[in-house]
Amino acid sequence: MNEPLPEGGTIRKLWIGETDAYRDHLLRLDRESRYRRFSGTVSDDFIARHAATANVLGVVVHGFFVDSVLRGAAELRPMGTMFTREAEAAFSIEQPWQSHGVGTELLERTLLSARNRGIKALHMQCLADNQRMQQLARKFEADLSFDFGGVVGEVDAPRSTPLSLMREAQADAHGVAAAILDAQSRLLKPA
Ligand SMILES: CC(C)(COP(=O)(O)OP(=O)(O)OC[C@H]1O[C@@H](n2cnc3c(N)ncnc32)[C@H](O)[C@@H]1OP(=O)(O)O)[C@@H](O)C(=O)NCCC(=O)NCCS
Repeated sequence: MNEPLPEGGTIRKLWIGETDAYRDHLLRLDRESRYRRFSGTVSDDFIARHAATANVLGVVVHGFFVDSVLRGAAELRPMGTMFTREAEAAFSIEQPWQSHGVGTELLERTLLSARNRGIKALHMQCLADNQRMQQLARKFEADLSFDFGGVVGEVDAPRSTPLSLMREAQADAHGVAAAILDAQSRLLKPA
């Protein structure tokens, strides 16, 4: 399942203070991808307001970066109260990076985060004709159960284990290291 990411690409969680990068990524989506991401037509203002809420407690956004620019994202957002066991997941990948395995990797990370947060049901808003998203979700059928009913995919995430917690912590540590290396290499680049 772990295909290599497109060259130069890394995945890590977005940090507090990176909501502008998230907004800019969402604004760069082509018209169709934007429509599919939000299941309808939304304005630039709506996107800016939406991205600003990525800092809210409980929201986890995994980002796919190429040369330090955010090109893809997976948002995990709890539904309702803080103690809820349900969350919504939404994915956005800029067109040139679609169909290169990025969505697969982002969904895998999102499912791990959901599991570690005790999320039992993960809703994926998905237009009925979004075959790519549905195909992507089906790749995880072995671990998860789906009820697409045309629009919403519902996933029962298994419970967290010491191993699943460790996997997420390792991925976070790797993300920090990659970001530091990237910042260093940019500093050393001739102007
Ligand atoms: C939907 C989306 C998240 C999928 O991510 P992706 O990186 O393009 O998908 P992947 O490359 O990981 O491919 C996942 C599966 O989708 C299917 N797929 C890939 N490209 C496809 C295409 N052009 N047409 C149909 N199915 C396709 C394949 O089954 C693939 O698995 P495989 O390569 O193992 O066979 C991404 O395309 C995207 O952001 N689209 C616009 C916004 C959107 O639709 N968001 C989803 C609603 S929340």
